[in-house]
Amino acid sequence: MDKDAIRKQIIATANRRYATQKFDPHKKISDADWQTILEAGRLSPSSFGYEPWKFILINNKQIKNDIRPFSWGGANSIDGADKLLLILARTDVTYDSPYIKHLVEEIKHKEYSPESAPSQHFKAFQERDLAIDSDRALFDWASKQTYIAMANMMTAAAELDIDSCPIEGFNYEKMNRYLTTRGIINPQHWKVSVMVGFGYRNQPIKPKVRQPLSDIYKTLD
Ligand SMILES: Cc1cc2nc3c(=O)[nH]c(=O)nc-3n(C[C@H](O)[C@H](O)[C@H](O)COP(=O)(O)O)c2cc1C
Repeated sequence: MDKDAIRKQIIATANRRYATQKFDPHKKISDADWQTILEAGRLSPSSFGYEPWKFILINNKQIKNDIRPFSWGGANSIDGADKLLLILARTDVTYDSPYIKHLVEEIKHKEYSPESAPSQHFKAFQERDLAIDSDRALFDWASKQTYIAMANMMTAAAELDIDSCPIEGFNYEKMNRYLTTRGIINPQHWKVSVMVGFGYRNQPIKPKVRQPLSDIYKTLD
C-alpha cells in the first residue's frame, strides 16, 4: 500500500469507529479477531513500561444482570455487545511495591532494589513531578494509562470492521464494591477504570461531529 492509501485508511478507520449504541446480539467476534484486539491492548505504551492494567472479559450473565442497575451508560453493551470488557487499573504502582519488584525482575529481567537509581528516579517522578500525594491521585495516574490501551483496542477493532463503545457511565463506588464482594478484585491492588463493549452494530454509523482543527490545534513558531 502506498503512503496515500495508508493515510486514507487511517482516516477511514477513525471515521468508522463510533460509540455504538445498538449492537446485534447475534453476531459474534471471531477468536482470531478478539485475540488481535487484546494484543493491541497488551502492546500499548505505559508510563515507565509498568503496565498498570488488567482486562476482564465478562461473559457471565449473572454478573451482567448484577451490574446493569448502576451501569446506565453500559446498558447497550451489556445487553447487545458480544464482548463486555472491564478494564482495571492498579492502585499500587509505587517504586517500592511488590508489583514493581515482580515486573522489573520477572518481566523485564533486570535487577531490582527500591534504593537503586532507576527506582529513586521513578519515586521522584511520581512524588515531585506528578505530585502524586494520595491514593486517588495514584489510581488516576494508572487509570489514565488504561485509556490508551482501550483506545488502541477500539482502533484495532474498527480496522477489523468491529464496533465498540467506551463506557464510563456507571457508578464507580458500587462497581468496586460489587467486584470486591464477588471476589473479582482485591481493592488493595485494583479498581475499575473503564469498560468497553465490542461487537457488531445494529444501526448505521453516525457521521462524526467535531470542532474544526483550527479550534483545537495551534503551532508555536
Ligand atoms: C471515556 C469515555 C467514556 C464514555 N462513556 C460512554 C458511556 O458510558 N456510554 C455511551 O454510550 N457512550 C460513552 N462514550 C461515548 C461518547 O459519548 C462518544 O465517544 C462521543 O460522543 C463521540 O462520538 P463517537 O465516539 O461516536 O465519535 C464515552 C466515551 C469516552 C471517550
